[in-house]
Amino acid sequence: MNDAFAAESPVVLVTGGSGGIGSATLQRFATGGWRCANADVNDGANHVDMYVSTDVRNVSSCRAAIAGVVSKFGRLDALVNAAGVWHEGVTADTSEEDFDRVIDVNLKGTYFMSAAAIEHLAPTRGCIVNLSSDAGIQGNSGAAAYCASKGGVSLFSKALALELAPTGVRVNAVCPGDVDSPMLRGQARNSGGDERAYYDRLLAGYPQRATARFIRPEEVAEIIWFLAQPHAAAITGANLSIDFGLSAGIFPAD
Ligand SMILES: NC(=O)c1ccc[n+]([C@@H]2O[C@H](COP(=O)([O-])OP(=O)(O)OC[C@H]3O[C@@H](n4cnc5c(N)ncnc54)[C@H](O)[C@@H]3O)[C@@H](O)[C@H]2O)c1
Repeated sequence: MNDAFAAESPVVLVTGGSGGIGSATLQRFATGGWRCANADVNDGANHVDMYVSTDVRNVSSCRAAIAGVVSKFGRLDALVNAAGVWHEGVTADTSEEDFDRVIDVNLKGTYFMSAAAIEHLAPTRGCIVNLSSDAGIQGNSGAAAYCASKGGVSLFSKALALELAPTGVRVNAVCPGDVDSPMLRGQARNSGGDERAYYDRLLAGYPQRATARFIRPEEVAEIIWFLAQPHAAAITGANLSIDFGLSAGIFPAD
């Protein structure tokens, strides 16, 4: 970190900070003494010093969120792009509206929030952490649009890491498996069948078999926190899996 910034608390901006992973992330950074801002369409997070109403689908809203945070705190040290939406459905039946929503929130939002943050992260030698998914590094049947968005986030993170390496700004993606959050509960509700059966089907895909469980938002937040620390200085351009081995490869069926 630049000496000019060393004396005061660092600042993190989390998009989707009212959601499961986002709010756990804000809590983790607040506990670590950072000043915290939440950019979400809904105001719902605790542990924030600032809420900025933001729709990440809109480029001017992304720019306004970054400008507002920098204007209030005078600096930006980390951007966590956690705003996201899930979409499930076969490709032939996916509407243009659903496709645009998932790409615009997950990929376009991540891209333009990052773009707006760059000039402010360079002076603090800060970092960007993007929420990708196991679906950003392997195909998930029945979720092609979501995979397209998260695959985009994974490779965008790598490309931006290369682009920003000379500035000292690091860019990484975190790729969780199934996390116990409002998103997962919404998936189960919208599955059209029994929610317990939906959860059981997901857990059956994990190599732990009978002992498989969903990941807690706090576990993802801890990885994001780790990536923003000085001891992670050598980590940039990574797609870091936190998925109980879900994406590690093929394992034999029972
Ligand atoms: N829950 C999982 O199983 C899981 C797994 C892998 C990756 N992820 C990813 O992690 C991220 C966080 O997921 P979560 O589980 O916390 O979901 P969540 O639904 O609990 O939270 C998502 C948040 O994004 C906000 N949001 C949605 N559209 C927005 C927009 N246009 N502008 C600003 N904010 C918007 C919502 O209001 C919500 O607060 C997402 O990108 C998701 O795709 C989640």
